[in-house]
Amino acid sequence: KFAPRVFSGIQPSGGLTLGNYLGALKRFVQAQDAGTETIYCMVDMHAITVWQDPAKLRRATRELAAGFIASGIDPVRSILFNQSQVPAHAELAWIFNCVARMGWLKRMTQFKDKAGKNAENASVGLFAYPTLMAADIMAYHATHVPVGEDQKQHLELTRDIAAKFNHDFGVEFFPIVEPVIEGAATRVMSLRDGTKKMSKSDPSDMSRINLTDDADTIAQKLRKARTDPEALPSDLDGLAERPEARNLVNIYAALADITPDAVLAQYGGQGFGAFKPALADLAVDKLSPISAEMTRLMQDVAEIDRILGDGAARAHAIAQPILEQCYDIVGL
Ligand code: ADP
Ligand code: NA
Repeated sequence: KFAPRVFSGIQPSGGLTLGNYLGALKRFVQAQDAGTETIYCMVDMHAITVWQDPAKLRRATRELAAGFIASGIDPVRSILFNQSQVPAHAELAWIFNCVARMGWLKRMTQFKDKAGKNAENASVGLFAYPTLMAADIMAYHATHVPVGEDQKQHLELTRDIAAKFNHDFGVEFFPIVEPVIEGAATRVMSLRDGTKKMSKSDPSDMSRINLTDDADTIAQKLRKARTDPEALPSDLDGLAERPEARNLVNIYAALADITPDAVLAQYGGQGFGAFKPALADLAVDKLSPISAEMTRLMQDVAEIDRILGDGAARAHAIAQPILEQCYDIVGL
């Protein structure tokens, strides 16, 4: 009933990290290049669930668009746009707020992580974030959502909301999405702490590689990345209790488009003194063209705005009829 359609988004809440690149952007490009219909969104309305300086938000949104394009998203073959420019997202989110149950949202671990100890002081928007995310996806009747591991629980909630809507109104209106969480780097970890994910919101810049870091910075961050004193093992079993080593092997594999086993076949028996510089060379080789292209694109902000305006018009043309049918089903 539903044709394959890929949707995903990234928040313009700071610079892009290697985690965003390997867990999201690189896979967005693969979906586009496989010929599937692909829709990608700068989710600025998600970003404002925590305080954002307005001028910085505007700049971060354009820079994120530049990051998508520099990574290989073709704004003609894919639809690339800004969430706040397509009103169907917010409108459908309200319907979903009335479908989702408080208890479902209370179970979301990302809210607990982001709200921290003082949850009473978190915005209502931060709590309702997953219903807006469900609306982002369902506004296009998207069937496949490539994301990192951290979004798995939100996608399960999206499925629950779609199923409850369909059941409550006796329709088969919303598809039940498939999360696409695959590859070696669905969860890139912090370079300082192998138990935490690499994130743009981590206070330590040494914990992450930013797409805009220069070659020296990338090499320095990897040299200082926390590891253990052992040499690399020759197979994956040998990484079971070594999260930091496992993370660096996964990053290498994802950047080189090979399996972690193939990385160990090459580097097993060698120490980090040899492996880290090889990883730094590979990372610089893959990331510096993207960073250079982002800088070039950011010199023509009017062109970025034109691309996003065009994307928003195409997105609106798909989402608006779906929203209108949804209102009709609900009796609005
Ligand atoms: P962030 O978590 O950096 O604030 P977003 O929430 O906007 O970024 O996530 C954008 C995409 O990047 C999502 O698909 C998310 O799963 C993915 N992602 C974010 N961090 C990582 C990571 N460390 N490893 C793998 N994927 C990640
Ligand atoms: Na995230």
